[in-house]
Amino acid sequence: MKALLVGLGAAGVGWLKKLENAGDMAIAVVEPNESRQSLLHGKGIPFYRSLTEAIEREKPDFLVNVTPPFVHSQVNHTAFDYRLPVLCEKPISFDYEESQQVVRRAIQENIPFMVAENYRRHPYVRKLKRLLDEGAIGELSAIDAVFYRYHQRERAYPVSLLKDIAVHHLDMIRYLTGQEGKRIFARNVNPRGSWDRELVSVNLYVWLETEGGIPVTYTGSLAARSSATPWSGNWRVEGTEGAIELVDKELTLITRSGAAKVDMAGDPPVTDCLGEFLASLREGREAETSGRQYLRTEALMHYAERSSEAAAILDVQLPDPGRDRS
Ligand SMILES: NC(=O)c1ccc[n+]([C@@H]2O[C@H](COP(=O)([O-])OP(=O)(O)OC[C@H]3O[C@@H](n4cnc5c(N)ncnc54)[C@H](O)[C@@H]3O)[C@@H](O)[C@H]2O)c1
Repeated sequence: MKALLVGLGAAGVGWLKKLENAGDMAIAVVEPNESRQSLLHGKGIPFYRSLTEAIEREKPDFLVNVTPPFVHSQVNHTAFDYRLPVLCEKPISFDYEESQQVVRRAIQENIPFMVAENYRRHPYVRKLKRLLDEGAIGELSAIDAVFYRYHQRERAYPVSLLKDIAVHHLDMIRYLTGQEGKRIFARNVNPRGSWDRELVSVNLYVWLETEGGIPVTYTGSLAARSSATPWSGNWRVEGTEGAIELVDKELTLITRSGAAKVDMAGDPPVTDCLGEFLASLREGREAETSGRQYLRTEALMHYAERSSEAAAILDVQLPDPGRDRS
């Protein structure tokens, strides 16, 4: 297989390592910032500044899109022009209508398109989901999730908590409950003493009800001076027969017989996004976080933003980009 890695910024470097470790994988890179070429020194990896030139010369089998989110669609559409399968970083785009157009096109033209949603692939998140599916706490009854960090990052574009980080947590809510959102109330806030005067979404407060009636509360902050949670947050999952706490990447199962740390030794290894994408191509099936699936996560992101603007509880209308494989 030959991969075309597009965007060699902070996250692109991580993707380069993943592709190098994938075994039997040829790689070429597209990056407009020529100074980044030095990162490929001695690797024999072709470096291009033009995407179309790279596609035409290298004839890759798939493209990994690690450009800034406002560039994603332009790159995705160019890849689709060449019928290239795409593994795209989150979110599909910052604009919900634009994301829907990209996914609709991938579906209509039957081009595999997957979003690299990595938080639900953490082994402890997989384990939590497995315990819920096995009925370890009876029926799921409520979720409370918190995410706190002091994270000031210089980027060429604004980094909002909602669209940059909380989108992962909204996806985790869908994954853990196995349900879509039905109603949402959210507030984007720039708190007093925030490191950014302009950015609206530095703190985020969400109340969400799933289609099955599970209430979910979420607090997130990128300006928290209190102790930090992991990027995936800390979670309390309540059930009719018990509860599970995910704190600092460790699971505790609480039942009538007491609280016990969950031992994950011997659990099967979890495939990462690249592994899932390659498997979906090999097996000719829809990937777990295909664009079609992930649009439902972006629907939550969209309605959270609308809710915050309107200061109102909103019904979540699920997108309908089509039914074929994407
Ligand atoms: N899943 C995660 O945990 C995670 C973590 C960090 C970033 N990300 C995602 O990765 C993506 C990139 O983020 P980043 O932090 O690396 O950003 P970044 O700004 O550090 O890097 C983006 C790179 O893309 C390059 N670029 C811009 N336009 C381009 C174009 N037209 N063609 C090719 N390259 C282009 C830029 O020059 C830059 O080097 C974003 O979608 C972000 O949301 C995901």
